[in-house]
Amino acid sequence: MILPIVAYGAPVLRKVAGDINQDYPQLDKLIDDMWETMYYSNGVGLAAPQVNKDIRIFVVDTEQIFSNIDEEDQGKYPDEPGVKKVFINAHLKQVEGEEWPYNEGCLSIPKIREDIMRPETIVLEYLDENFQPHTESFNGITARVIQHEYDHLEGKLFIDYLKPLKRKMLQGKLSDISKGKVKVDYKMMFSK
Ligand code: NI
Repeated sequence: MILPIVAYGAPVLRKVAGDINQDYPQLDKLIDDMWETMYYSNGVGLAAPQVNKDIRIFVVDTEQIFSNIDEEDQGKYPDEPGVKKVFINAHLKQVEGEEWPYNEGCLSIPKIREDIMRPETIVLEYLDENFQPHTESFNGITARVIQHEYDHLEGKLFIDYLKPLKRKMLQGKLSDISKGKVKVDYKMMFSK
């Protein structure tokens, strides 16, 4: 089932999401719905707060990026061919390496893209969909996407990293998004 994506301005996008346990009702269905919603919206990642659930789950598929990458960019990223994974109860353990810029967008903040600096490598503790624990290191675009989705669990958005002036320049657009004054070709939910 395709779920509506919560737009910028909704309180759930600013909450710190909580861990879940295996008894969480209809968890398999929620994960299936998150995949379906992410692909329908042409996203490479989606976090539970974006479908109005304040719980620590996100899905990431960076294989999509590498299957569409320009020939000149092949071999440029260390995480090729990407990952397709569900992350439950994720907690960031380590952040390493130099910060590098990448043009980010967010399904909750349509039509806005900005270059954002983030560190190269992360170590993440998480459970997979069978509740098996993992401690894993990620780099490249995959580390980038995971950090973006992880931020959603912490109530953070990519625009928070912008300099105050840049952020101020976006204020009108952000206010329009929160009021539903934006055209998107996927399902959204507006709070104002
Ligand atoms: Ni996002």
